[in-house]
Amino acid sequence: MAKIDFNMDNHWLPFTPNRGFKDNPRVIVGADGMHFTTHDGRQVVDGISSLWCVAAGHNRKPINEAIKKQLDTLDYSTAFQATNDVAFKAAEMIAGMAPGDLNKVLFCNSGSEAADTSLKVALAYHRARGEGHRNVFIGREKGYHGVGFGGMSVGGIPGNRKAFSSSLLPRVDHMPFMHDAVNNAYIHHELPDWKAGVPHPLDELENRILPLQDPSNVAAIIVEPVSGSPGWYMPPKGYLQRLRQICDKHGILLIFDEVITGFGRLGTNFGADYFGVVPDMLNFAKAVTNGVIPLGGVICRQHLFDTMMAVNEKSPAHAIELMHGYTYSGHPVACAAAVATLNLFKEENLFARAGEMGKLLGDAMHSALNGLPNVVGIRTLGLAGAVELSGIEGLPGKRAYDIFLACFQQGVMVRPAGETLVLAPPFIVEQSHIDQMVGTLAAAIKKLA
Ligand SMILES: Cc1ncc(COP(=O)(O)O)c(C=O)c1O
Repeated sequence: MAKIDFNMDNHWLPFTPNRGFKDNPRVIVGADGMHFTTHDGRQVVDGISSLWCVAAGHNRKPINEAIKKQLDTLDYSTAFQATNDVAFKAAEMIAGMAPGDLNKVLFCNSGSEAADTSLKVALAYHRARGEGHRNVFIGREKGYHGVGFGGMSVGGIPGNRKAFSSSLLPRVDHMPFMHDAVNNAYIHHELPDWKAGVPHPLDELENRILPLQDPSNVAAIIVEPVSGSPGWYMPPKGYLQRLRQICDKHGILLIFDEVITGFGRLGTNFGADYFGVVPDMLNFAKAVTNGVIPLGGVICRQHLFDTMMAVNEKSPAHAIELMHGYTYSGHPVACAAAVATLNLFKEENLFARAGEMGKLLGDAMHSALNGLPNVVGIRTLGLAGAVELSGIEGLPGKRAYDIFLACFQQGVMVRPAGETLVLAPPFIVEQSHIDQMVGTLAAAIKKLA
């Protein structure tokens, strides 16, 4: 191992086991295209688009140039009571890509802030309509909406909530998860049918949760169209359509958290397009700037904005309609990065490429990993796939973690999530990278069996 000539004492690593890190450091010092360069001079394939962010690959010159130009033109200006020209441009492009009348973009800096922003808009909107009693939120088991108190409360990954459960939002319920591990363990390109006779996950919402909370008290339901962080789980056919109908029936807002599925991962602009369902709010982050600079946001349907403006017609013209925002909402440099990224996606037709390469990734994973020791499921959709393993008794997550370490050592970055390993490469991926990623993963699964 190359000598570490920098101080590693002060950076407390997020979502990382810190205690042993120094013994086996994984420090990235450069990146280009599909590859990282590590501190010890090795090339490692970025098999996870660096947390689902770097969709167009690393070190893309048009994005870098746009950022440099923006820095020389307008580095930053206040976000409140004045704004910058680039924020309007980025919002116009993002709204133009979104389906239906998802037209109004509230910027923030991350997926966690997007979650909290969307929940706050839901409360403010209902209050503006005279339904301030609508303050129940419904999330879903295994849901991930970041680490703010709002997102954590509607989130459904037990480990993320454990230490904080005494301080979560008080009026939250969770729907059952939407995956049938017995009948739909292997999913290849196509959404699964829900097996007749097995209770449908939305039955519980309709038959128990909504009657218990009373639908008239529910402000919003928030889901990821495809559940990313816990290990790439897709809904059964018709699930999101039925969820939309339930929300419409009861006047409940539907929020899609598209921090992962937004901007091409499924081969379409958004998951909403892939599934043909338009939510009332759509949260985004990550790939919108290719991960280069933090930017997130919530795209709201026109009627939410109109309602907030209409109710404020009674208040003086200088009164602020929505008391919410961040110092860096619509930061000009982040917005310049977004404009360049969205242009690059279009010029290189990268979303269509993600759809095509996704099929190849799915084929490779199913043919190379099915039947290997401890493999109990494989799920592929869009340009991402997950292989699920049986856990080690008493050591949850250990098998997947060891496989992740072995893959990194062999030159491939995969993502461990519980008992699952995920691949979600940049859209510029080639067949040779797919072969390397899946081959390395297969070898590690066999070796550590
Ligand atoms: C669906 C979803 N929502 C929210 C977040 C949180 O985003 P951030 O880490 O930018 O706060 C993530 C992060 O992975 C995510 O996958």
